[in-house]
Amino acid sequence: MRSVLGWIAVVMGAGSTLVAAEPGGREAEVGPRFVSIGRDALDAALAVAERRGAPLRILDIDADVAAIEVDAGDLGLLAEEVHARHDRCGGFVVHDTVGAAIAALPVHAAAAAVRPETDYPLDRAEAVRTVLPTLDAGRIRDTIRELSAMQNRYYQSATGAAASIWLRDRWRGLSARPEVTVELVDHGYAQRSVVLTIPGGARADEVVVIGGHLDSIAAGGAGSTAPGADDDASGIATITEVARVLLAHDYRPARTVKFMAYAAEEVGLRGSQLIARDYQRREIRVVGALQLDMTNYQGSDKDIWLMKDFTSAAQNGFLIQLIEGYVGATWGLDACGYACSDHASWFRTGVPASMPFESRSRDRNRAIHTRRDTLETSGNNAAHAVKFARLAAAYAIELAKGEIAAPPAPPAPAPEIAATEDRSAAPGAPGHPGAAACIALFLICLWFARAAAARIG
Ligand code: BES
Ligand code: ZN
Repeated sequence: MRSVLGWIAVVMGAGSTLVAAEPGGREAEVGPRFVSIGRDALDAALAVAERRGAPLRILDIDADVAAIEVDAGDLGLLAEEVHARHDRCGGFVVHDTVGAAIAALPVHAAAAAVRPETDYPLDRAEAVRTVLPTLDAGRIRDTIRELSAMQNRYYQSATGAAASIWLRDRWRGLSARPEVTVELVDHGYAQRSVVLTIPGGARADEVVVIGGHLDSIAAGGAGSTAPGADDDASGIATITEVARVLLAHDYRPARTVKFMAYAAEEVGLRGSQLIARDYQRREIRVVGALQLDMTNYQGSDKDIWLMKDFTSAAQNGFLIQLIEGYVGATWGLDACGYACSDHASWFRTGVPASMPFESRSRDRNRAIHTRRDTLETSGNNAAHAVKFARLAAAYAIELAKGEIAAPPAPPAPAPEIAATEDRSAAPGAPGHPGAAACIALFLICLWFARAAAARIG
């Protein structure tokens, strides 16, 4: 069906002001935003408009997608309505301008150029095989536990803002190398995106991105209880472990590697979209983007599901080689059916993107976007997520190339948190008497035995 530009009711200016206060957060955004949304999810937008007592402004529409206008203050509500009515299958994307929202309609987007793909030679087997066994499921689990203990990580809440600072400091603790940087990216929300950069050597101007989203969402917005353990503390914890291990091996990539924790994914892929657009404007060449959004709930018979839509078939083929050559997991192909996560932001700017996912879409974790999205749902361990960590570490090394310069330093003590059941099982770990104490006990017993024997004699 052809697009219908004549549907525009009244289009107001794109400027925004900050006035209303969010509970527990800083001032909320208001002002018009331009949203592309699946046609099947228009009922959710209508419900939001009805609640406001205003007509829904449809700017353009084609067979599958509509471009609509929504007040910035209603985006959280729209996310709630979409999730409630469509079981999270009617995602939407927020754009800064009317033009960008309209350009996102498939009828207009077909012409968007996708950059020629990179070739994907596998020639770093030794480095990959040195690094992969040092990835630690226990640490991934502990990081999920810490992130999901926050009341929520909503993009406009005080705890959402604190999550950015927490992650920045955590990532800063991973390396003392001065050229390795960790920065916050301000988008105008309470929450900021976090970016860890390992600068490349010979091909520093080519960038490899490994990302996930830091925010969480549940009914109630800034005041909600939204642990987001799977969606997407699991992805952020997986990325954190990959960065830790690569830096512990003093990894020196040829291409620049960037780990990204995006703000505001749950309200329309907004943090990643701002970053991807900024890179496009600055002509930064991103050779590949890997999205880790939900890695720890094993809902299907196979381990890793590669989403076929809004992704690069060539890069997905590279991931299959990595899974079969290094990860030793099973895989399948599936689709979200809409722009379900931040990989779509990169895809839309012509970057080869991939989204390896924890289950088939139809078997997905039903607890996400509720207060029940906790680590318990994944069995209180990170046995599934560590497969994605192996894949992402192999992806970094085989795409960014370069060398690992040193064997890993002895592991730093894990963060102090309760119930570290996996690690406490290991001899010498916290909670275990340890080898030194055992030897001391043995010597004392020996001394007593000798003394007793001497007395008897
Ligand atoms: N992690 C989800 C996406 C997801 C959920 C993928 C279940 C596959 C199965 C993501 O955080 C999310 O909730 N996305 C929104 C869309 C976004 C554009 C607001 C969604 O799916 O509604
Ligand atoms: Zn998510």
